[in-house]
Amino acid sequence: MTPLRPATLQAIARIFDAVDYGALGPIYCHEGGDAFWEERRGPCQELGSNLAGVLRDRLAPNGRSLYVGAGIAELPLLVMETMELNRTVAAYNLRADEVPLLNNACAGMPFEFQARDAREAVGTFDHLWIVSVLNDPECFPELGSLSSARANPVTFDPDAFAVERRAAFALAAGCLQKAARPGLVTTSVEEIPWITDWCQRQGIPCVVEDEDYPTAIVEDPVCFIRIGA
Ligand SMILES: C[S@@+](CC[C@H](N)C(=O)[O-])C[C@H]1O[C@@H](n2cnc3c(N)ncnc32)[C@H](O)[C@@H]1O
Repeated sequence: MTPLRPATLQAIARIFDAVDYGALGPIYCHEGGDAFWEERRGPCQELGSNLAGVLRDRLAPNGRSLYVGAGIAELPLLVMETMELNRTVAAYNLRADEVPLLNNACAGMPFEFQARDAREAVGTFDHLWIVSVLNDPECFPELGSLSSARANPVTFDPDAFAVERRAAFALAAGCLQKAARPGLVTTSVEEIPWITDWCQRQGIPCVVEDEDYPTAIVEDPVCFIRIGA
């Protein structure tokens, strides 16, 4: 892995400096948002930049990436893709209050976050990024607790889980059907089963890389899956 270019690192640093962390605090945390960002901002920028270098080695120039659930953690990746590989990125996030904050920080960059369902994205993408979405406890409380092995067997609600699992199946399928073949999927280790299950049902070969990489916000390690090769 070669490091990102100085101009890319400068753009990432400028964007991280421009983020309104005060406004972002309550979006990411029920309480203690200021302390959370004071502690996580640096690691988020650094680990994201390292991961951007790793991702760059796996992507071709001039392609298209679909980012599902893109937030602060994804900023270095989006900057790398557009500045170093001249790729088009479509970044979706359903948190309507976070999206304007992200777009303000990224003013002047050749991408805009959209507060819409990523399944509305048009066309195919040779890279799909879906990290900490299919196990997000905010959207899927029972499923999220099961995925991260925090489920309490006394209070776990299997009926609610079944509903959430159907929604996660539909979301995974709606996004994966936009992936070109061959293509690359970046996801968290906890979300691997959603990707491999969909590929298996479609008869599409997929290979999960052995190595995974740390992240700083939800702290799920991230890995790469090659599909349709
Ligand atoms: C737990 S957050 C993860 C954010 C970021 N990927 C990270 O790792 O820090 C999950 C995000 O997925 C977004 N999300 C969930 N379903 C989505 C969908 N159908 N389309 C776009 N974004 C979605 C939520 O709005 C939220 O921003």
